[in-house]
Amino acid sequence: MTSKQVITVFGATGAQGGSVARAILKSKKFSVRALTRDVTKPKAQALRDLGIEVVKGDLNDKASVEAALKGAYGAFLVTNFWDHFSKEKELNQGKLVADTAKRLGLKHVVFSGLENVKRLSGGKLEVPHFDAKGEVEEYFWSIGVPMTSVRVAAYFENFFTAWKPVKASDGDYYTLTLPMGDIPMDGISVADVGAVVSSIFNSPEEFSGKAVGLSAEALTPQQYADVLSKVLGKDIRDAKITPEAYEKLGIPVAREIANMCRFYQTRPDRDVQLTHRLNPKVKSFSQFISENQGAFNGL
Ligand SMILES: NC(=O)c1ccc[n+]([C@@H]2O[C@H](COP(=O)([O-])OP(=O)(O)OC[C@H]3O[C@@H](n4cnc5c(N)ncnc54)[C@H](OP(=O)(O)O)[C@@H]3O)[C@@H](O)[C@H]2O)c1
Repeated sequence: MTSKQVITVFGATGAQGGSVARAILKSKKFSVRALTRDVTKPKAQALRDLGIEVVKGDLNDKASVEAALKGAYGAFLVTNFWDHFSKEKELNQGKLVADTAKRLGLKHVVFSGLENVKRLSGGKLEVPHFDAKGEVEEYFWSIGVPMTSVRVAAYFENFFTAWKPVKASDGDYYTLTLPMGDIPMDGISVADVGAVVSSIFNSPEEFSGKAVGLSAEALTPQQYADVLSKVLGKDIRDAKITPEAYEKLGIPVAREIANMCRFYQTRPDRDVQLTHRLNPKVKSFSQFISENQGAFNGL
């Protein structure tokens, strides 16, 4: 029996890494080594139940990152800004994986990156959870690691949480608060990201050294509201909020999200056609909401 080459997956107990680990396993070309800080958690056990090797490690710990990458062909890296809200920490974690991948001679890394908005806007806009990933992208390439960056559009799953329609105080309708004006915003179900990444690992010669923007489709807030109304049978309306008004809502990370939407309004490159080629089963927003109506119970 020939043993398969290994891809180390960071974040495999989470949304992106979990989708990637399962898709790589399904494609049967590579075996998966998953890293988690807590090997006893149910999500780690669920990975073991699938036959995935689970190892203990922490992106803040050099020795454990080295051990997780040793002998691997490649790696998928997602760093979680929302774990600590620190651009510096996210940068350090990304650079640690980049340096280790370089030293160990990994053949292909897929990094969940995003644009360095601060640099692209000449310092006018800061979106720390984008900027850190943009700097990590630049670092990987500057030291010569064969890396593909996947710039994942806003998750459709955000409509279950931060962007869930809210009941209006003055009538029997709901509002969707997305400060995008009439400009389409790209989206994708995070569950569909894994198959795209697996396809990228299967074609390193086509994708190494490139950034790929992933999107199932781009809809305006009005169109997102229309799909939600139709599928859920409720009256859901675009709140028509500006980024300036959004910043004043007093909600957590309002400025960061307002600036992200200001950047999204410039329509950064997300390639819907390529995303569909790499994952022909990628779901539209309408399909996604139809299949997840339970998440809106109680609306
Ligand atoms: N939400 C969106 O629309 C969207 C769109 C594009 C990009 N993103 C980016 O996606 C990232 C979050 O990814 P996700 O949605 O997959 O998050 P998630 O579901 O919360 O999972 C986070 C994962 O990161 C791992 N992790 C966190 N800190 C770690 C550390 N110090 N060492 C090792 N592993 C660590 C966790 O593993 P353990 O806890 O098991 O150790 C977990 O598997 C964010 O940076 C965000 O900017 C989000």
